[in-house]
Amino acid sequence: MEATRTIVVGVTGGIAAYKSAELVSRLRKEGFAVHVIMTRNACRFVAPLTFRTLSGNPVLCDTFEEDGPWAVQHVGVAEAADLLVIAPATANIIAKMAHGLADDLLSTVVLATAAPVLVVPSMNSTMLVSAVVQENLRTLRQRGVTILEPAEGELACGVSGPGRLPEPADIVARIRELLAPAADLAGKTVLITSGPTQEDIDPVRFITNRSSGKMGFALARQALRRGARVLLVSGPTALPAPAGAEVFWVRSARDMCARTLELLPQSDVVIGAAAVADYRPRHVSRQKVKKGDGELHIELERNPDILAEVARCKGARVTVGFAAETEDVLANARVKMEKKKLDLLVANDVTMEGAGFGVDTNVATILSPDGRAESLPRMSKEQLADEILDRVVALL
Ligand code: PMT
Repeated sequence: MEATRTIVVGVTGGIAAYKSAELVSRLRKEGFAVHVIMTRNACRFVAPLTFRTLSGNPVLCDTFEEDGPWAVQHVGVAEAADLLVIAPATANIIAKMAHGLADDLLSTVVLATAAPVLVVPSMNSTMLVSAVVQENLRTLRQRGVTILEPAEGELACGVSGPGRLPEPADIVARIRELLAPAADLAGKTVLITSGPTQEDIDPVRFITNRSSGKMGFALARQALRRGARVLLVSGPTALPAPAGAEVFWVRSARDMCARTLELLPQSDVVIGAAAVADYRPRHVSRQKVKKGDGELHIELERNPDILAEVARCKGARVTVGFAAETEDVLANARVKMEKKKLDLLVANDVTMEGAGFGVDTNVATILSPDGRAESLPRMSKEQLADEILDRVVALL
């Protein structure tokens, strides 16, 4: 019999706190043990008694309270958790988490737990899209916290936009995914190219592009979570390396190609998420190029196409490419898929808001060789990574 899993639900002070009552109720019905931590402000929206009744356990509100089942509350509950979900998560708890503050029970438990953490933001749209909240969410994502994107619609404050707490059923579905035995890529090695390349013009200048490496790093994190060994060949990026991945830092397309081909024999899956420069300066000046009076012409020559090289010794590997397009997205993507003998191609229209370079979300259509084209809604790069890996697993 499967052991009962324990979900710790953190409820913070937002109007959507009432929806967490349904979340707790659903989790209990699904057979989870549930402990609820409420912040002081959450208690102003919903009475702790509601959660006590629905969870069947004392509600924890205060670090120094003695009502809970553990001698040291924050350590006991943190260790008991198989997953910590914070729903609704206000801008305040998100900021505290991003900066490591521990000034109440919930923020202390966040620091004390080794369990996966799911944050479900819910707030006014303007607050949600503010630069500082987005920056804090980015920080959390980079540290491996899963963020469930808020839904769009009418908000309690009267405006319409993003910021609604997703339906409790959707939150439960995400919890189930996060707790699913992460073993469907166990024993497999996934080789990922990621980020931009840099093509030198002279010792101080180079040609590059807008790739941040977020898509490739999200793929690496999700593949690791699913049990894979991950070889990550990355161009320059400011992102912290995903813990557990074997990272090979490169700069130019030729370096990236050489490293990828060297690692290829170890791999079962190859995913090309990198934005590789198709051209490089034919001559790299040894000295800084001086400003002259007239125009400067830089002659470019072709770089190797890494995925086309991989295709030449593809074997039984599953290969996945991306296509960053600005027009005729599907037609161009199909051509790339055929040329590079890919099993899957993820086409992103990089002109769409929330898609492509630099952002935390993406909007993609996944093409299969049988001609199927599945258009996915805007989702976090982590979620898209999982969608891609689901299809990879089916092909392995
Ligand atoms: O890094 P982010 O900021 O998160 O942005 C993500 C992304 C937009 C970079 C990513 O989603 C993406 O679309 N990556 C591929 C970008 C690209 O270069 O597309 P392309 O259409 O030029 O190339 C098609 C495929 O061939 C890609 O898988 C690419 O990695 C590969 N390629 C391209 C050129 C080349 N010389 N060698 C290659 O292997």
